[in-house]
Parts: sequence; structure tokens; C-alpha cells
Amino acid sequence: MISETELKTALTAVGQEHLLRFWPELDAAGRAKLAGEIAALDLNGLAGLIKEYVLQKPKTVIPDDLGPAPFFALHPRSDAESAFYVKARKRGAELLKSGRVCCLTVAGGQGTRLGFDGPKGTYPIGPVSGRTLFEYFAGNILRAGEKYGRPITWYVMTSLLNREATERFFREHDYLGLAPEQVFFFTQGTMPAIGYDGKLLLGSKDGLALSPDGHGGTLLALRKSGALDRMAAEGTDVISYFQVDNPLVAMTDPLFLGLHDLEGAEMSAIMLAKTNPFEKLGNFCVSGGRTHIIEYSDLPEELAVRKNPDGTLAFIAGSPAMHLIRRQFVERLTAGGSLKLPWHRADKKIPCVDASGAPVKPETPNGVKLESFIFDALPMAEKVMILEGDRAEVFGPTKNATGVDSAESCRAMLVERDAKRLEAAGISVPRKADGTVDALIEIAPRIALDADDVKAYAGTHSIRILSGDRIVLE
Ligand code: UD1
Repeated sequence: MISETELKTALTAVGQEHLLRFWPELDAAGRAKLAGEIAALDLNGLAGLIKEYVLQKPKTVIPDDLGPAPFFALHPRSDAESAFYVKARKRGAELLKSGRVCCLTVAGGQGTRLGFDGPKGTYPIGPVSGRTLFEYFAGNILRAGEKYGRPITWYVMTSLLNREATERFFREHDYLGLAPEQVFFFTQGTMPAIGYDGKLLLGSKDGLALSPDGHGGTLLALRKSGALDRMAAEGTDVISYFQVDNPLVAMTDPLFLGLHDLEGAEMSAIMLAKTNPFEKLGNFCVSGGRTHIIEYSDLPEELAVRKNPDGTLAFIAGSPAMHLIRRQFVERLTAGGSLKLPWHRADKKIPCVDASGAPVKPETPNGVKLESFIFDALPMAEKVMILEGDRAEVFGPTKNATGVDSAESCRAMLVERDAKRLEAAGISVPRKADGTVDALIEIAPRIALDADDVKAYAGTHSIRILSGDRIVLE
């Protein structure tokens, strides 16, 4: 363990010696904990970050040449493109059949907006069964493995705060039907929270106030955890990345996979046509020949409302945070064991201890958390491919307790999507006068990856749905 004198010298050099304020009262375990957390910090690097991001509010610079990013449309725009989509679907299926695709869920966030106490993936979202977000992903991953004849490895990124609870959930639920070795948990890094005065906050007398370092932390964590090595050993070179909040995600879409591969993209993305200029989605843009995502809060209003001659939004492409990432791209970015992504400042209410050691639960923001974002890797990719997704089919995030992007809206979308798939398979679905489904319908993700699966299921089962029914098709 690093000595007290060494700690004091290092901390004093960067004006953070207050971290040792309670040192004299700590026992050996407490001292070891605190010393370990401090030793893990890059103190000089932090001093620079504090100057740049905490003591001043960094301004997002919007480049003069910023334009909308090009994308492949949901429906091909020419005969040539139609033929290319057919070829891409075939290539995507081949990638799955040859075991070159793995799935990656980022589940390290704290889910504070949802007001749910526990890892967000354990939130019950099934409209009838209450199956969890994790069960939706596991079911689809199982079905994809069966459909393409190769089990898919699932990488689940947690944070230090929820790793144990997440693993316990999987253990207690038999890995949701997957083989235990099919699931690889890894933990993202942490960043210390910083008070507005530039001083690191203590979460307790013997510990820093640490929080997850943002989903940009995925890339380095993939290397540090050995996940990249495992992928290489298994011959996986396409990582299908998605967030834990969206049970509708199509994580093994052959078209998306095939276009990514045929285009030789290092990183690809699904885009959704924004429903209004200010929809809370990141915006796909290009500048200097590179792809960027500009967060909704940073896109100037003049650009957000700009229209094309045909009346559509110029900056139409919103990000639902679904990516395909080439393993070799992650290896390149993290070579040498480090990665430089920009940091983003978030002003937060950070629980901490005050100068007397008393716990403080602030009612207003008292400091800054720094996070990096995965999509800041897009400009580093030599080639990016963007494909338009079908919103009703693939996107229904559970972010808030009520209202927009809530569990309620997500369940309604799951019911509607499954109802449409049944109707396409010739099954009659009762609907109310306003067109919404007059029943609660849930198709188990284990049996249906896509509309074709529902058609096949409907062909071999007798399904009758009446008004007011609550029905799970398993
Ligand atoms: C995110 C995107 C936004 C996109 C929207 C689509 C950011 C900053 N913005 O917004 O561009 O349009 O989703 O739904 O991401 N996570 C971690 N570790 C962390 C932080 C987050 O694993 O340290 C995970 C969360 O568990 C979650 C995902 O990343 O799965 C998104 O995080 P969240 O903070 O909820 O982003 P949003 O504001 O919803």
C-alpha cells in the first residue's frame, strides 16, 4: 500500500489534500480502501479535467461545416439499392450462421429517472407476464442462436454499483435460459465526482464519491476485462451494441449486419426519423468527412428546425443508440490500454460527507460527474454506415416513470408491435374505436425474433384473441 506521506505529497501537489481529512480516525481497512481509490486516480490528468470541465462550463463548439449524415433508407430508393439490400440480408445471415456476431448490452447506468431500485435490466416490462428487460434480450438471443444455428455470446456491461446485483439476478434465474458460459459480465470504470470548487467529493470518510464513467467506458472495459480476447478466440468480429432500456431492439437484424459488413464500416448505427425538431435523440451529423452525434441539447435551434426543399427536417436522423462495432476497431482504439474520448459534464446532486464527516443528501446540484459517450468513437471510425430503422418495430425505451419514454409507453409499443405481427400472419386482433389494441398481447421473445417467426408460429397454433383478453404466446 502507498504510504501516508506519499499520498499527502501527491494530493497536495494537485490541491486535493482534503481527501485525507479523516485519515487519523480511519482503521487499517478504511485507510487501505481510501488509499487504493486514490492510487487508482490519474491525479495530474484529473487536475486538467477539473480546469476544463468543472471550474468553467465547457461550450460545445458546432463546426461551420456541420451537415446531416447520409443514411440508407428503411425502404430502398432504387432498383440497384433493392438488390444491394437483398445481398446485405444474405450477408448478415451468413455472419450469424458463422458465429461472427455477439451482443453487448450496456447496463451500467443508475436508472435514477425510472425510480427503480435495482439494476434496470431487472425491471418488469412484459405487458402481461411482467418479464424483465433482461429476459427480453435473453429470449431474442436464444431464438437468434437457434434460428442461425450458432449460439450467440452476450456481453453485459455493469458498473461497480450494480455488478453484484446483476450477476445475482442471472444466477437466481438460471441465466434466463442461456448457458452460464454464454453470458460474459464485465465492469466499466469509475470517475470521481467533483464539487463546484474543484475539490473531489468524499462519499464517506474512507471513500471517494465514485460513479460510472459513462457508456464510452465500454470500449476500454472490453479490453481490460478480457472480452476482446474472448471475442477473438471465438472468431467474433461484429459487436451488436444496445442499451438496457429498449426491449424492442432488433439486435440481430440481418440487413443491418450485412450492410455494415458490405460497406466495410468500423462502426455502424441505426437512425430513426425524428418525430419533431426537438425530439430528445442524439443527431447524426457530418463534419470534415467524419460522422458525429450531436446531442439534442447541443444542436442549435436554427439547425434543428432547418428543412429540406421537400419540407422534411434537414437534420432528421435521430439516434436510438444501436450500433454495430467491429472488434478490430475497438482493438485499434484501445491499443496500449488507454483511450481518449471527450468528457461530458453533468451537474448532479451527489451524496457526500461534509467537512465534519456528516452525510449530505443535497437537494440541488452540488457538483459535476464526468462521463464519456460511446458515440464519440464515431468520428474515429474510418468508415461509418447508418441505416434507417422502423421506429414502431425497434424502439420503445423505458426511461421515465410516467409519460414519454416510460414503462407504460414501452408496454403499449410492445403490444402494438406484436399485434401487428399477428395481423400480418392473418390473426384477427380486436381493436378499439381509436385503433389501439383492445387486449393485452405478449409474444415471448424466445419464440419470435421477427415477423416471420410469428407467421410460422401462427401457422402451427390456433390463436383466438377476444376483446379484453390478456394473452401470452409462448
Ligand atoms: C441516450 C443517448 C441518446 C439517445 C438515447 C436513445 C446518451 C448521452 N444519450 O440517452 O443520444 O438518443 O439514449 O434512447 O447516451 N450506461 C452505462 N454506463 C454509464 C452510463 C450509461 O452502462 O455510465 C448505459 C445505461 O445503462 C443505458 C444507456 O447507457 O443502457 C443510456 O444511458 P442514459 O444515461 O439512460 O442515456 P439517455 O439520456 O437515455
